[in-house]
Amino acid sequence: MSRSTPIYAAMRSIGAYVPPKILSNADLEKMVDTSDEWIVKRTGIRERHIADPDVATSDLAVEAARDAIARAGLEHEEIDLVLCATVTPDYFNMPSTACIISDKLGIRNVQAFDISAACSGFVYGLSIAKAFIESGMKRNVLLIGAEKFSSIVDYTDRSTCILFGDGAGAAVISATENRDEGIVDIHASADGSYADFLMTPAPGSVHPASCEVIEQGLQYVKMKGNETFKLAVKTLTKDVKEILEKNGIPAEKIDHFVPHQANYRIIKAVGDALKMREDQIIVTVEKYGNTSAASIPMAINDIYEEGRLRYGDLMLLDTFGGGLTWASALLPFAGKN
Ligand code: COA
Repeated sequence: MSRSTPIYAAMRSIGAYVPPKILSNADLEKMVDTSDEWIVKRTGIRERHIADPDVATSDLAVEAARDAIARAGLEHEEIDLVLCATVTPDYFNMPSTACIISDKLGIRNVQAFDISAACSGFVYGLSIAKAFIESGMKRNVLLIGAEKFSSIVDYTDRSTCILFGDGAGAAVISATENRDEGIVDIHASADGSYADFLMTPAPGSVHPASCEVIEQGLQYVKMKGNETFKLAVKTLTKDVKEILEKNGIPAEKIDHFVPHQANYRIIKAVGDALKMREDQIIVTVEKYGNTSAASIPMAINDIYEEGRLRYGDLMLLDTFGGGLTWASALLPFAGKN
């Protein structure tokens, strides 16, 4: 490929993995003051998968990544950039989970780093992969969203412990000269003035690890659920309308609307605002809960494995998460079935 030929970034494959253990709403009823009825009605979630204590985020990521690389028809040594979106890294400071994943996959001597954008991490990562590929710096990017979210959940707090699950999704984003295969557009944004809507207060430079931190439970995720919910609906509706309008694509032309899987009511509200048909909207929240950065690639993998995702299908992704961050993307699937 000569440098004068325009290069586009194409999603060549998808893969995902969830740990086998299931935490059902009935299990949660025994742990906190909640009910299956309340959880299903307010969130749409019925169960989520939880990793064993000796399983790390990188272990989940490696399983998803192996499938994605194989489905892209690549050898591991053809990957030249490894990105891992996560807020539950193997180690909080260093090394990055992307470095651990690279080592476990036998991908050595290539750039590897983590992306911290909470639930928006995978779509943020897509924009990074696109930029690296279109500039000619990289050819095959392994992009992973992986979370062992259970490691930061307080299972005595009913307002958060019902929501989250563990899992990983991965995609290979590769260079192509075929414009029709390329990512069409990505919006990614943030507003740090809402930082306290969704956060883990420790450990970090503000609250380094200490006995007090543990006693106060500052290592657990805290969320202003209702405020976050309202802002998510408003922001996402505006963002997806903008990306569709900007690219002159009417909502009915989208084959698969793949929203972040946080709460069925948020998905439904945004889908309704876009006048999406039910068959266009991908919903997996009932079986996985909110898996943060893993949720979008896991949902794409679900429709891939069901045989519903075909080469050339147009996807609209949208996501919202801690930061606050949000992002949307328009892209065709450019993988083999
Ligand atoms: N079981 C039973 N009752 C519960 C409960 C649970 N698991 N969790 C909270 N409640 C109670 C609250 O204590 C409150 O009781 P009160 O009225 O007596 O004070 C009541 O239910 C309503 O709480 P509220 O927080 O207003 O409920 P909600 O309708 O907003 O639903 C969430 C709560 C968390 C499901 C919802 O706000 C949500 O999904 N938020 C956004 C999540 C998100 O998008 N995150 C960003 C991306 S990761």
